[in-house]
Amino acid sequence: MSTIDYSEKIPNNVNLAEDRTLKRALEQWQPNYLQWWQDMGPDGSQNFDVYLRTAVSVDPQGWAQFGHVKMPDYRWGIFLNPAEEGRKIHFGDHKGDDAWQDVPGEYRANLRRIIVTQGDTEPASVEQQRHLGLTCPSQYDLRNLFQVNVEEGRHLWAMVYLLHKYFGKDGREEGEALLERNSGNANNPRILEAFNEETPDWLSFFMFTYFTDRDGKFQLCALAESSFDPLARTTKFMLTEEAHHMFVGESGVSRVINRTCQVMNELKTDDPAKLRAAGVIDLPTIQRYLNFHFSVTIDLFGADESSNAATFYSTGLKGRYEEGKRMDDHQLRGQFYKVLNVQNGQLVEKEVPMLNALNEVLRDDYIKDSIGGVERWNKVIEKAGIPVRLSVPHKAFHRNIGLLKGVKVAPDGRVVSEGEWAANRDQWLPSEGDRAFVASLMGRVVDPGKFANWIAPPVMGINRQPVDFEYVRFN
Ligand SMILES: [Fe+2]
Ligand SMILES: [Fe+2]
Repeated sequence: MSTIDYSEKIPNNVNLAEDRTLKRALEQWQPNYLQWWQDMGPDGSQNFDVYLRTAVSVDPQGWAQFGHVKMPDYRWGIFLNPAEEGRKIHFGDHKGDDAWQDVPGEYRANLRRIIVTQGDTEPASVEQQRHLGLTCPSQYDLRNLFQVNVEEGRHLWAMVYLLHKYFGKDGREEGEALLERNSGNANNPRILEAFNEETPDWLSFFMFTYFTDRDGKFQLCALAESSFDPLARTTKFMLTEEAHHMFVGESGVSRVINRTCQVMNELKTDDPAKLRAAGVIDLPTIQRYLNFHFSVTIDLFGADESSNAATFYSTGLKGRYEEGKRMDDHQLRGQFYKVLNVQNGQLVEKEVPMLNALNEVLRDDYIKDSIGGVERWNKVIEKAGIPVRLSVPHKAFHRNIGLLKGVKVAPDGRVVSEGEWAANRDQWLPSEGDRAFVASLMGRVVDPGKFANWIAPPVMGINRQPVDFEYVRFN
């Protein structure tokens, strides 16, 4: 079960060969997917040989397969974690029943919507990142970008498999629509706002993979609890791939900070203008990028109070983060949770039924998790003997969904007037000048072992290869 059949046109561990109709449907979707990759995937890279990892099985050891491949030849396929014998539903109204191997008719529309929304983010991020290869700071980083991109492509496959297998004609139509919407397209945009933002430079890319791929982790963790067993199994395997994406982000930002601190110490200055003249990104700019990506990402968890969230949980479609480790009744009726509300222009806490606050619960779990990396970044600054610390902004800062949408809040959580917001906006979020400066640093560095001036080399290479390994052959 855990071994993947690579003799098939579509590699899989789901016995695709035995389901002729499904196989045919997916084989019809495959060329459209490849066309999308050609049109919207990494710009100008189709002919490169890239040192990629490919899953050969869904066991932990199954990841040890590395080799140079052309990205369009990457073996995208369908890999599910092995079924758990006798798996039971462990939260919501159906708690204690057998997990579903098929979609219950009454939940079909909601499950479809959940799968489509998740699926839509996967190709969206590939589209957002498609030009970054042209300005990579090193071969090592270029390879990591491409690894993330091919895996996001595979995550799309994972969701399209579910749509095709369990949702019939509607599912096939959704599969096509996933290739038709495009990030930032005015007429046919991606579903969620953060996935229509540009990822114009590598600092944005690292922030995106740290913060926004981590949103992916939390959504996938919640879906890995689902009573719909095929969804749980496919998202569990996706999570093993997601860990690498967050590593790319965390280590990327860390290396940017490391390099900046080096130059701060060499020049004995914290003056952003002097540091910029020396070609590194000053810490206040890094903080503003952090503020932007954090705030845009926490919007992805949805409205603070949501009856959909309650329905998804009670009906067993989507659990909480680490549902199985929690010591409560896993039904949550009669329980309460605090969300932020705005009263007379002030932020106040308000108790609401926990079931309606599950978006906020997941957001709060996410915030705790994302702070960890920021603290590790601070260690780098501390080690360099520099008295600056980065921090995540208040969760009400720069929000564009739910109750907080209508109010302007400073990074420290103070409600401010429109005037104060306007006067400080460029201190709190990347200004046009910041973005132009960061863009001006982006040049292409591709000699093995060479790195752009604004970023430190990594401590280790990929798969124990040296840092100056030829990770990408340009042909
Ligand atoms: Fe993904
Ligand atoms: Fe990801």
